[in-house]
Amino acid sequence: MLEAPRSMAELILDWILNGIPIRVDVKLFDDVSLIYEAQLAKMELSKWWDDLESFRKRTAYFEEVNGKKSYHYFISDIKGKGQIGRTCQYLTHWHYPYKAKFHPQMIKALINWIGLKKPQKLLDPFVGSGTALVEAKTMGIDSIGIDINPVCTLMSRVKCDLLDLSPEDLNSVPMEKAFHFFDRKRRKLGHTSLEKFVENNTERIVQLSSDERVARFYEPSYLYALSDFTYVKKDLWKGFNENIDAIIDTVEKFGKLEEELRLELGNVDVREGDARSVPFKDDENVKCS
Ligand SMILES: C[S@@+](CC[C@H](N)C(=O)[O-])C[C@H]1O[C@@H](n2cnc3c(N)ncnc32)[C@H](O)[C@@H]1O
Repeated sequence: MLEAPRSMAELILDWILNGIPIRVDVKLFDDVSLIYEAQLAKMELSKWWDDLESFRKRTAYFEEVNGKKSYHYFISDIKGKGQIGRTCQYLTHWHYPYKAKFHPQMIKALINWIGLKKPQKLLDPFVGSGTALVEAKTMGIDSIGIDINPVCTLMSRVKCDLLDLSPEDLNSVPMEKAFHFFDRKRRKLGHTSLEKFVENNTERIVQLSSDERVARFYEPSYLYALSDFTYVKKDLWKGFNENIDAIIDTVEKFGKLEEELRLELGNVDVREGDARSVPFKDDENVKCS
């Protein structure tokens, strides 16, 4: 009798499991199809096959482990603007369009392959929009991110801080007040770079809220709306409102998930400066990679 042809997903899984010394019950996400994704899935499993319950909580590429949904399944289900599959844009990753960022799923698998565990810390010396820090945080790992560009440190801080805030915190500043704060600033500065715009807000931003994390959060929403206004002529106020509503929805869903899964989040320390000259204290437990 002829055997039924095997699907690509089955063949990929066979290849991944080849070399794992015991039989493990795992299922890949359906959208894992590229060679680099299969390779990363193999690498993360090769590090964690002897502790599958921990692996279920931290895997990036497996939908199920031992017959139960992985944490990444739930986390990547908190969908953001433009999300397709489980790779990008979930959680707070979508909150500002930054073209040069990592795929969050990829960096999560690499953190697994490195085998990073508390109390070790992740150091990203070129943190950009903070992708690695968001992933480390949801995995319960503390991290330090450095960037020379103030727009990048702002994005990184906001994307991580949002995971510690509640919708009530974010609603504490009236939307109009936040919008007019940044809009006045834009008119006053005229044509300027993003870096100058962000630098000029730094001191005055606490006028919006005494909680700096809340005050800061509106800025990427405004800049995102400004980018849509500039490139696709989308109404600025409408775009701003939509971004705020969407991020509050993200925060609300994550708050519930955090409780359900009893997630312990890592702490994040974002520093602005040149990574070539930022000194580290001996007790910082930084694992460089
Ligand atoms: C490709 S981006 C990193 C993107 C990041 N992996 C992410 O997912 O968003 C590189 C970053 O390195 C920063 N950078 C370049 N030279 C630097 C330096 N000497 N010190 C600190 N940051 C630097 C840039 O400002 C830029 O944000």
